[in-house]
Amino acid sequence: MRLFVALEIPSAVRENLGEFLAVLRAISLQPRWVRTENLHVTLKFIGEVQAEKLGDIRAALSALHSDRAVTLDFRGVGFFPNEKRPRVFWAGIEASANIARLASDIDRALEKLGVPREKRPFSSHLTLARFEPPGLPEKLRAAIQENAQHEFGSVAAREFHLIESKLKPGGAEYTTLETFPFVVAEA
Ligand code: 2AM
Repeated sequence: MRLFVALEIPSAVRENLGEFLAVLRAISLQPRWVRTENLHVTLKFIGEVQAEKLGDIRAALSALHSDRAVTLDFRGVGFFPNEKRPRVFWAGIEASANIARLASDIDRALEKLGVPREKRPFSSHLTLARFEPPGLPEKLRAAIQENAQHEFGSVAAREFHLIESKLKPGGAEYTTLETFPFVVAEA
């Protein structure tokens, strides 16, 4: 099974992003737009694991805690690696510092179970679309540029989710397998 760990976004943010994406989708169907219901903030991509490992993964994740919520402000859009060679179109996130700690705690806990560690430093983002070369149509670039500082809302996240991804011809289908509240005591 193919797994990842993510924070969910609240419905108000999802609706804001959905309206924004509907406008962009009407301009170009060239990128692979993420379906609105699939939008999430990935903390850790686990990848393919044997189903027998699921129990250990759940146990490892349930042991992880933070002393406060992770706050996320969704604002602005941009590209990985850059606008000239866009692969991923994302919404920016201003997150509290503890998100990096949480992501690295997850990373380290799962490494003990044989899941390879992330090679790149954690960078909070919300993937909105994926591009294949040749990349970005001019009309879409212009529309995106106008929204470089668009505000999508915010959330204080107190739980993360273990999600199974099934790759289907029409796009990935996600199922939440378990939800892990991670805040032990808040000041
Ligand atoms: P992304 O949001 O940064 O694109 C499920 O596939 C999630 O895992 C995606 O949202 C994706 O994060 C993340 N992910 C990270 N590395 C991945 C990889 N090598 N293959 C597929 N997904 C990956």
